[in-house]
Amino acid sequence: MGRLVVVSNRVPVPKRGEAPAAGGLAVALKDAFSGRGGLWFGWSGTASEEPADLVRHARRGGVDYAVIDLSRRAYDGFYAGYANSALWPMFHFRLGLLSYDRDQAECYRIVNRRYADKLMPLLRPDDTIWVHDYQMIPLGAELRARGSKHRIGYFHHIPFPPWAVFSAMPGAEDLIRDLLSYDLVGVQTNRDLTGLIDSMAQGTGMKVRPGGEVRFRDRRTRLRSFPIAIATQEFADLAAESVKTPKVQRFQESLAGRSLVIGAERLDYTKGLPERLRAFGALLEGFPEHRNRVTYLQIAARSREDVESYKDLKREIETLAGRINGDYSEADWTPVRYVGRAQPRDLLAGYYRMAQVGLVTPLRDGMNLVAKEYVAAQDPEDPGVLVLSRFAGAAESMPEALLVNPLDAVGTAEAMNTALVMPLQERRERHAAMFRRLGENSVQDWAKDFLNVLEGKDPAEAPPARA
Ligand code: G6P
Repeated sequence: MGRLVVVSNRVPVPKRGEAPAAGGLAVALKDAFSGRGGLWFGWSGTASEEPADLVRHARRGGVDYAVIDLSRRAYDGFYAGYANSALWPMFHFRLGLLSYDRDQAECYRIVNRRYADKLMPLLRPDDTIWVHDYQMIPLGAELRARGSKHRIGYFHHIPFPPWAVFSAMPGAEDLIRDLLSYDLVGVQTNRDLTGLIDSMAQGTGMKVRPGGEVRFRDRRTRLRSFPIAIATQEFADLAAESVKTPKVQRFQESLAGRSLVIGAERLDYTKGLPERLRAFGALLEGFPEHRNRVTYLQIAARSREDVESYKDLKREIETLAGRINGDYSEADWTPVRYVGRAQPRDLLAGYYRMAQVGLVTPLRDGMNLVAKEYVAAQDPEDPGVLVLSRFAGAAESMPEALLVNPLDAVGTAEAMNTALVMPLQERRERHAAMFRRLGENSVQDWAKDFLNVLEGKDPAEAPPARA
C-alpha cells in the first residue's frame, strides 16, 4: 500500500517531542497514517513579507510534514481574499456578503498552482492523495496538468449549495469543473450531496448517474457523503476529568447556583451569534422567571480578523452583549459572559459538561462538531439539553436535540426555555439516544470510509478507474 498524502490549508505540525493536536483532522488521520506512512502538505500559517518559496520539512511520529509560507500578497489575495471573502460566503449561502475581485480569484489559482509545483516532486507513484476543503479546490486539476496519475480525493468540510446559489460566483463553471479531476468528492451530509449533484449536473452539463457518479474523459468521479464524527468516549472522559479541576470548579462557584447556557465557536457570521444573543434577550424578556437564574457564557474565538465582514460582526456582538447586560444585569448577576478568545480544549469540555443548555445555532454549517462534543461531554445521569439549528449538518443525525430555526428569535427562546425546564427523564432519553449514535461512528471510521471508497476497498463499490 502506498503512502497517504494529505493536503490541507492549515497543517498542524506537532512541536518536537509533543503529541499531535488533540482535535480536528489530526485525530481523524492518525490511524489512517499509521502503518503506511504519510505526508501532510500545506500552508505553514505564516504570511511573510519576503516572497516565500521554500518548503520546510519536519518528521514527527512517522509522518512527514511539508509546509510553505504565503507571501503577504498571497495571504491577502488567496486567504483573506478569494477563499474567505468570496468562496466562504457563497458556500454558506450568504450571497450578500460575497465580495468578488478578479485579481484575488487569480491569486487563488496561482497559490494552488504553486502548491502543485511544490507537491509534485515530493510524490511517489503509488501515493494516495487526499485534498481538504475549499481553499484547495483547483489542486487536483493542477496536479493532473503536471501528469499526476494518483488516486486523488477531495473532501469538502463546509456546506455545498445547489447551482442556483453556486452559480452566483463569477467563474462558477470553472470551479465546479475542477472537481472532475478528483476520483472522489466527499461532502458532509445528504443535503450537501443534493447540492453537489445539482451544481455538478447544471454547472458542467454532464449527467450524474444514479449513485452519484460522473464520467468525464477517462475518469469517473464519485460523489458521496461522509458525515464527520468525533472521538466520543475520549471527549466524554476529558469532560468528566475537567469538571474536577480547580479552574472549572471556580467557574462553577462563580455561577452561584444559576443554570448555565453555553455557546462556543469561532467568531464567524455563519455561526448565528447576533441571532443567538437576540434569542437570549427574548428569553429574558418573554420568560422573566429566568432572570437572575440563568447565565449565558459565549466563547467566540477571534478568526479571520483581516476580513471586513468579521470586523463588523465583532462590533455587532459586542454591542448586543452590552445591551442585554445593560437591560437585565443586577448588581450580583451578569446575564451574558462574553469571552472573545479561544479556550483550551479541556476547559471547554468541562464547561460543556456543566452547562444545562448547549446552544449551537449556526445559520449554515457543514457539520458542527461542537454539537457532538456538547452531547459527548454530558453526565449521562443528569445531562444538559442541546438546542440545535436545523441548518447545521449535525441536525441530520441528532433529531433528539431541540431543533430550531435560528432566524426565529422567539422560537429559539422558547426552545431554550423548554431545555431549561425539561424533566430529568426526558433529558436522559434524548441524551442516551444521541450518545449511542455518536458512539457508532468514530472519527477514524470517517477517514477510513473515505479512503476505502477512494482506494476501491469498499465492498459496496467497484474499484475506481485509474486515469
Ligand atoms: C472551517 C473550515 C476550515 C478552516 C477552519 C478555520 O472549519 O472548514 O477549512 O481551516 O474553519 O478557519 P481558518 O481560516 O482559521 O483556517
